[in-house]
Amino acid sequence: MRLTVFGLGYLGLTHAVCMAELGHEVLGVEVDEAKVARLQAGDVPFYEPGLADLLTKHLDTGLLVISTSYRQAAEWGDVFFIAVGTPQKKGESAADLRYVEAVVDNLAPLVDRDVLVLGKSTVPVGTCAKLVERVRARSQGADIEIAWNPEFLREGFAIEDTLQPDRIVLGRRPSGRAEALTRELYADILRHDTPFILTDPETAELVKVSANAFLATKISFINAIAEVCEAVGADVRAVADAIGYDARIGRRYLNAGIGFGGGCLPKDIRAFMARAGELGASEALTFLREVDNVNMRRRTRMVDVVRGACHGSLLGVNVGILGAAFKPDSDDVRDSPALNVAGQLQLQGASVTVYDPKAIENSKAIFPTLSYAASADDACENADVVMVLTEWPEFVRIDPDDLSALVRTKTIVDGRLCLDRQRWSGCGWTYLT
Ligand code: UGA
Repeated sequence: MRLTVFGLGYLGLTHAVCMAELGHEVLGVEVDEAKVARLQAGDVPFYEPGLADLLTKHLDTGLLVISTSYRQAAEWGDVFFIAVGTPQKKGESAADLRYVEAVVDNLAPLVDRDVLVLGKSTVPVGTCAKLVERVRARSQGADIEIAWNPEFLREGFAIEDTLQPDRIVLGRRPSGRAEALTRELYADILRHDTPFILTDPETAELVKVSANAFLATKISFINAIAEVCEAVGADVRAVADAIGYDARIGRRYLNAGIGFGGGCLPKDIRAFMARAGELGASEALTFLREVDNVNMRRRTRMVDVVRGACHGSLLGVNVGILGAAFKPDSDDVRDSPALNVAGQLQLQGASVTVYDPKAIENSKAIFPTLSYAASADDACENADVVMVLTEWPEFVRIDPDDLSALVRTKTIVDGRLCLDRQRWSGCGWTYLT
């Protein structure tokens, strides 16, 4: 099939490349000309394992073409994906839909035949219905059907999650062609008995935000239990392991630590609360405010732990921070708990040096005043406190004895509960969480 993907960020680029991998002819449209030039040269502007290889492969096969042109898009094929960002509005909790709206506003007047638009971006419930109205007002007589096909990919596993998803969800009005076209589009995936959930657009929109709200809740749940464990000297990792064996609970997303960040979970739970408020159902989601509170408290608590280890003052203290990305296998630092903690420590007088295998450049752009090191060893030199704030495998593998010679004081703060407490303590380190 010939398809178009609007927006070549994390979601859109992965989707475009994976659709080419499925054998479709894909046009990726991006308004940022500098980004288009990089992508056309096979250069992915963010770190995602395997994506650069697949991009190069399909620029070479010719199955993927990248452009800035809406006119070219309008003529390309009959299925259009919206994969642009829906960031948090400045100074508000709600999602900013201007990029999603711009796609349909630009496309609708150019289309001269019946087409299908599939939304992938995470949007507040009711967005699809509003876009249908918008398109009606702008189209030149063509029948532009809009349906919602949310995406559930995780950074770091983006290709795998797209090509072998847990499920495909389609929210559409039954009278249209969306179901038939979507089945054809994903035929190779559906062949492997992937669940296909066919529903209305409102439900599909809600599936996506509910999934992220649930994941955020699960993380904050275990972090709330961690607070109680800390009060009584209990071991939250053992609690998570033990309750995780119950198949109804499950062990995944029960890793306590400095909490969740990134470009999705934090903004999505806030947008969900804002939308529920607009719908007169705000009470239903007040618990998400607490989920957000527990999460943010983890960051301040980390700072308190370091201050406590330094006898109440951070002035003149050297802190080596290992990890800046919001999670491993990513260079994304949007709402990164690690950088947030680094920034707070610096504001309170500490001298902070950060190392991350992939996220240094992005970190510098938003926190230029922190010091950055070229290796974990460099970051830890003369440190009074070493902190692991993103659980990159290379940090988990560090030999405490090797680090001992570099630091001023052997204090390690395990912000992701990813280190072997006994090993570090056995090597004479003060191990804190
Ligand atoms: C999240 C969802 O997992 C995806 O399903 C969804 O498609 C995506 O958002 C999106 O809406 O686009 P992602 O932001 O890539 O994916 O990150 P996650 O792997 O979910 O991790 C989010 C944060 O939670 C990270 O900071 C991570 O360190 C933290 N986390 C995760 C924990 O603190 N504990 C855990 O047990 C798991």
